[in-house]
Amino acid sequence: MPLPTIEWEGDSAGRVRLIDQTLLPTELKFVYCEDIKSIWHAIKTLMVRGAPAIGIAAAMGVVLGMKDVHAKDADIFFKELKQVSSYLRTARPTAVNLFWGIARMERIAEENKNKSVREIKEALLHEAIKIQNEDKVICRQIGENGAGLLKDGNGVLTHCNAGGLATADYGTALAVLFKAQEQGKHIKVYADETRPLLQGARLTAWELQHAGIDVTLICDSMAAHVMKLGKVQCVIVGADRIAANGDTANKIGTYGVSILAKEHGIPFYVAAPVSTFDLSIKSGGDIPIEERSPEEITNGFGRRTAPEGVKVFNPAFDVTPAKNITAIITEKGVIAKPSAENIQRLLGTFVS
Ligand code: MRU
Repeated sequence: MPLPTIEWEGDSAGRVRLIDQTLLPTELKFVYCEDIKSIWHAIKTLMVRGAPAIGIAAAMGVVLGMKDVHAKDADIFFKELKQVSSYLRTARPTAVNLFWGIARMERIAEENKNKSVREIKEALLHEAIKIQNEDKVICRQIGENGAGLLKDGNGVLTHCNAGGLATADYGTALAVLFKAQEQGKHIKVYADETRPLLQGARLTAWELQHAGIDVTLICDSMAAHVMKLGKVQCVIVGADRIAANGDTANKIGTYGVSILAKEHGIPFYVAAPVSTFDLSIKSGGDIPIEERSPEEITNGFGRRTAPEGVKVFNPAFDVTPAKNITAIITEKGVIAKPSAENIQRLLGTFVS
């Protein structure tokens, strides 16, 4: 990434600086979040988006939420922390990294509960930045682990944006492409535009162009045709939440792409950090799916494209069953034929 998607500025009384992803690719503008409401709003409206980046934003949101709490009494401080965490959890329901990031922050506060309020706040900021720094390393490892799956000259289809914008840096699905390119492989990427909010067109195409990767933009409805023409040898997407059995929630349309890949005998890979697994959920049917406003479909980007009063269904994610996934690429290694057993084998005792 030419610029980090999210940064903390200053000490524990500081602020968050974000790239406003809703304005890309025509405008590269920073937004500054000084309080919890503004970071909540930034997550809700997709100024900051993509599961790992949401996790980082939520962790930094906890620091913002606690910065004006000056309680000397630990009970009051922890009561406030509970409220801050509960509020942030309402920003978006599907990406588990949001809940994971907040849980890590609560844990660190608990571990420091015998310290002064100032020291607990410092520990919270330290943890939020640690989550961000760890994500940088994790993304590189995902790239390393996945790049071997690509051969020189391969065509790859991707859906939505799982790049540097969606993470601390480098991405998950796009990390695999960046690494393959660093290894000297020539990869041709087909980016689904990803209706309704066009993360593929606006963000993935922008990132890949910046990285000098050969990228061709297609409408979502063209994926089957592109596969039939033999232009892609695999699909790589990111994930928002992976159930214990490998069923994977990702941007709406991903499930359809997985069916198309199966029909055409094309491997379908999911690239995601371990923090995106939710082992408390047995299968994909239990993953909460966010529904967003009808205007995203009827008034996409300022112009009405549907009759007034028409009924709209706008789920932001869908679930790809594990049986359609060839492998999940994580920082710990590649899980071929994802199943509860294969996932447990790689993740060991890890529970998100
Ligand atoms: O609604 P969004 O833009 O937050 O959805 C993002 C995705 O679906 C990504 O593919 C996923 O979060 C992985 S990002 C590394």
